Amino acid sequence: MSSKKRLIQPEDPDLGDKMKLIPDPEPELEISFKRVPVIESSGKIIPVCEPTLGGNELKYVTQCIQSNWISSAGRFILEFEREFAKVCGAKYGVATTSGTTALHLALVTMGLESGDEVIIPSFTMIASANTVQHTGATPVLVDSEMETWNMDVSKIEEKITENTKAIMPVHTYGHPCDMDPIMALAEKHDLFVLEDAAEAHGALYKEKTIGSIGDAACFSFYANKIITTGEGGMITTNNEELYQKAANIRDHAFSNDRHFWHKYLAFNFRMTNMQAAIGLAQVERFDELVQTRIDHAELYTSLLKDIPGIVTPPRTEGIKNVFWMYSILIEDEFGISRDELRARLAKRGIETRTFFIPIHLQPLYFEKYKNESFPNAEELCLRGMYLPSASSLTEMEIEMICNSLKKCRD
Ligand SMILES: Cc1ncc(COP(=O)(O)O)c(C=O)c1O
Repeated sequence: MSSKKRLIQPEDPDLGDKMKLIPDPEPELEISFKRVPVIESSGKIIPVCEPTLGGNELKYVTQCIQSNWISSAGRFILEFEREFAKVCGAKYGVATTSGTTALHLALVTMGLESGDEVIIPSFTMIASANTVQHTGATPVLVDSEMETWNMDVSKIEEKITENTKAIMPVHTYGHPCDMDPIMALAEKHDLFVLEDAAEAHGALYKEKTIGSIGDAACFSFYANKIITTGEGGMITTNNEELYQKAANIRDHAFSNDRHFWHKYLAFNFRMTNMQAAIGLAQVERFDELVQTRIDHAELYTSLLKDIPGIVTPPRTEGIKNVFWMYSILIEDEFGISRDELRARLAKRGIETRTFFIPIHLQPLYFEKYKNESFPNAEELCLRGMYLPSASSLTEMEIEMICNSLKKCRD
């Protein structure tokens, strides 16, 4: 019997032989000291990431509670927006509830609607595509390049049509995209550039800070990000008009003249003062938190670079990769597969993550893109994983992780 109250559960699509690209289910983590002598001394799980909250976070959140300013009004919002925009080299910041809502808000502010197209990489986190889809526009996918794991800039122009309204480069795992040719294409075809900078706090492209290059950039402050507010996000921009409109649409598009008077179909994507209080304390340690990720990556790379079958993360002349997650590829030469390695590391109490499953292989989007080809995105999906990357990791832990990784092949 049909009912209006039926909740629809989508079926998994038949991916055919593409199914072999999809990672195994998550391996179960085991407390290491029960089994593996090498980490016996620590006797704990090493998580893939965790926040570092050792500064003024508690003090500022306490001030919110003591002063009763716990919603989205309060001094920390404006201070956090100002200070974060400043470290990004941008004039304005609009704080939101997440990186996803920052992207959604930016796209709506740019006027995206049904019939429009936005060019994005297939190899990205699902939010890059879903936010486009939520506006009614269509994500148009481009393959990645193996050198940087970012959208292949040479393949963008062939995807531009008269419906294209924006390009969304994603600075994958903290490595900036090649922005000069992207900006030139946008100029030539009169397109917006919205940087998905969710993972790239503090990264530089030829001396320019990520967050200040496109028309707007969106950051995530989820707990695994280099700067966190627990959940949260921000649009940064140098465009005053875009800033004003985004700030208004974030807040139900309340009118300045009459309170309950609304001209746009808007949202409540407001960040709370308490989240911003944490964010401000994090930004006070911005340089240190970014540098720690870079130092950890250097140590990891020095310990892993000579192991056959391990590809260490990209480094590009003139570009500051901030290594949000320390990411590697496992090639056949390594001797065991990426999924087998993850399972063995999990037995030693070491948590890892696979790379993104590309958009064109997602149950949600498979039908739409099944006749297109994205071989590099698939290669990254099959081989990529990240190792524990929290700023709180010690050098000894990184050495232990690398030793365990070597032992996993035996
Ligand atoms: C590339 C990318 N875009 C968007 C997002 C969404 O950010 P959030 O989780 O804060 O909504 C993420 C989250 O990790 C991401 O990696």
